[in-house]
Amino acid sequence: MFDLAGKVALITGANGGIPRATAALFRRLGAHLVLTDLDPAALDTFAAALPEAQARMVTARVDVTRRADVDDAVALAGREFGGIDILVTGAGLYVEQEVTAMSDDDWRRTIGVNLDGVFYTCRAAMPLLRRGGSVVNIASMAGHRGSVRHAHYAACKAAVLGFTRSLVHELSPRGVRANCVSPGIIATPMTEAIMAQNGAALIAATPMKRFGTPEEVASVIAFLASDAASFVTGETIHINGGIYMD
Ligand SMILES: NC(=O)c1ccc[n+]([C@@H]2O[C@H](COP(=O)([O-])OP(=O)(O)OC[C@H]3O[C@@H](n4cnc5c(N)ncnc54)[C@H](O)[C@@H]3O)[C@@H](O)[C@H]2O)c1
Repeated sequence: MFDLAGKVALITGANGGIPRATAALFRRLGAHLVLTDLDPAALDTFAAALPEAQARMVTARVDVTRRADVDDAVALAGREFGGIDILVTGAGLYVEQEVTAMSDDDWRRTIGVNLDGVFYTCRAAMPLLRRGGSVVNIASMAGHRGSVRHAHYAACKAAVLGFTRSLVHELSPRGVRANCVSPGIIATPMTEAIMAQNGAALIAATPMKRFGTPEEVASVIAFLASDAASFVTGETIHINGGIYMD
């Protein structure tokens, strides 16, 4: 598909549905991996199940809401691999709540993972990103059109779009690109509840009449991460079967 041989990719939320598919594809494409997530045992189990490959892989426990965790993981990437070529911010939290029911803590928790986490990760990794490198932030359809009972989540994802476009100005002089993917409804643990509650209506509203798969997001992330997208920056690619067209 695309060649990522010898590239170093750091992925947050790497034990999630979309990030797992991304890690597995990146490994097939030859990338070295720095996989990070909250639960180190679960992450190690996932990593151990990935196919044998020549490229190396390390894992680290990272809570993206904790700046020190993020800084440590980026430092690990620097020590192990000497730099980073690809950054994928996959950690995400999707809590169903109406605005009037959101406590200050609820709001902060969602902002902490979905927005602070992206900022901490990008800020820490930027000095280590090498020429030819690529940042792919995972936004969401929610950031474009809003999201029923997920206003905090939608606000973060819209902010990630603006943040990523702003990164372009700081990264371009260094030969690094920054883009987003905006998935629609993808079958992962994150969307199990919404699919169970409202799946038939969501499929009916989707021109392609199905949910997406994590692999269908991973392949677009791989494109943006690869040299095949070498003049693509500040862009957002929707992956949603036509349910929302910008
Ligand atoms: N599934 C979808 O339909 C969909 C749609 C649009 C965007 N997204 C985005 O894609 C990304 C991946 O989501 P997914 O669907 O694979 O969900 P998922 O729930 O399977 O994965 C999310 C991962 O983030 C990790 N995480 C949560 N809080 C964290 C924290 N504080 N620090 C570090 N890691 C943390 C979780 O442990 C989990 O492994 C998220 O950013 C999500 O918002 C998903």
